[in-house]
Amino acid sequence: MNNNLQKLIQVSQKENRNIIGLMSGTSLDGLDIALCNISGTGVDTKVSLLQFTTIPYEVTFQEDLKKLLSKQVVDLKHLCQMNQKIGKKFALHINDAIQKWNYKREDIDAIASHGQTIFHAPSCDANTENSTLQIGDGDQIAYHTGILTISDFRQKHIAAGGQGAPLVAYGDYLLFKAPHLARILLNIGGISNCTFIPARADFEQLICTDIGPGNTLIDNWVCAHFNDITFDQNAIIARKGKVNYVLLEQLLSNSFFKKPFPKTTGQELFNLQFVENALNHSKTNNISNEDILATLTAFTANVIINAIDTIVPSDTNFEILISGGGYHNPLIMEYLYNHFDNITIRSTAQLNIHPDAKEAVLFALLANETLAGDPKTFENKGNKNPAVQMGKISFPH
Ligand SMILES: Nc1ncnc2c1ncn2[C@@H]1O[C@H](COP(=O)(O)OP(=O)(O)O)[C@@H](O)[C@H]1O
Ligand SMILES: [Mg+2]
Repeated sequence: MNNNLQKLIQVSQKENRNIIGLMSGTSLDGLDIALCNISGTGVDTKVSLLQFTTIPYEVTFQEDLKKLLSKQVVDLKHLCQMNQKIGKKFALHINDAIQKWNYKREDIDAIASHGQTIFHAPSCDANTENSTLQIGDGDQIAYHTGILTISDFRQKHIAAGGQGAPLVAYGDYLLFKAPHLARILLNIGGISNCTFIPARADFEQLICTDIGPGNTLIDNWVCAHFNDITFDQNAIIARKGKVNYVLLEQLLSNSFFKKPFPKTTGQELFNLQFVENALNHSKTNNISNEDILATLTAFTANVIINAIDTIVPSDTNFEILISGGGYHNPLIMEYLYNHFDNITIRSTAQLNIHPDAKEAVLFALLANETLAGDPKTFENKGNKNPAVQMGKISFPH
């Protein structure tokens, strides 16, 4: 048997594995690198987050990504080159992180790389296929780190009938199901998503769905209308403005919010044009940028609140566990605390998963399932998440 296969079998038979999870979301803020020790598989999985870092992206790299992200027309040569460039860049950041953490390459059993989403297109009618595209080639990562790499998880989900998103259902179920308490796992990244896990739930009882914009509209408005900043740090600008309720109603009236859960979305819908259209339709173009930002922040929070109110059956005793960069936006959080005043809201840090690391950890868990799990763990008739092992395996040599 060749060495690559031998190593793969050896890794799959270990009692516990060190897996590096990588996440780079649509916010383009940076690469999240989470080193996890994972023992067991399926419902017996236990994870400890050993190390975590976010490597912020350089402005030039962000600009290169923005030429691709959710664009209808792109330069194919640029796309082709970025697929390789991103993979190699991720590999070099991993090598640096491993060294900084005083680990050796041999200590790491596998890398789980989500890649960079550049387009997400859920089917809109019976004649279109679900599709989504993540770039950052896994072979580049495997070759330049010398570590077995699993990447491009979303394609199998689609092949098996899903929308390729959100994939957090699998990891949320393994990590956060609780015997006596229902939970909402809320991730506020560029796009926000949530998983509702009833108490004592089987996988088929989960509801996992995208909600709508997370930080993306706030970030994009700030980038376009304020100099030299890429996000509204601690909501300082939004707090200077007033919510415009005519604009807020217009934003909330989009037909996406009338579609039933679960559903998925991306910046193909929630982008600057979406805001411009709402400003035009509501004839609120004359309000200040601060007021628009205050309104976009209220909108982001309202969409989350409406989703949770719809998804969780009334009279359910539940708690909300938050992750993603939106947790650091105190104004979004204020809206959530005010609305859910009788409900415990905490970050996933309370369960030992740093809120900025959660998504990277969940991809490490998906890789662990691919290496050693049994897809039957996720068998279900009810929700739209197929019972499959996801990701493509790249050997280092
Ligand atoms: N201190 C903060 N104040 C306000 N917003 C913040 C703060 N820290 C992070 N964010 C927001 O979080 C975003 C990054 O969130 P993240 O979960 O990494 O999203 P993604 O998964 O799309 O990369 C930033 O772009 C920013 O909008
Ligand atoms: Mg990010």
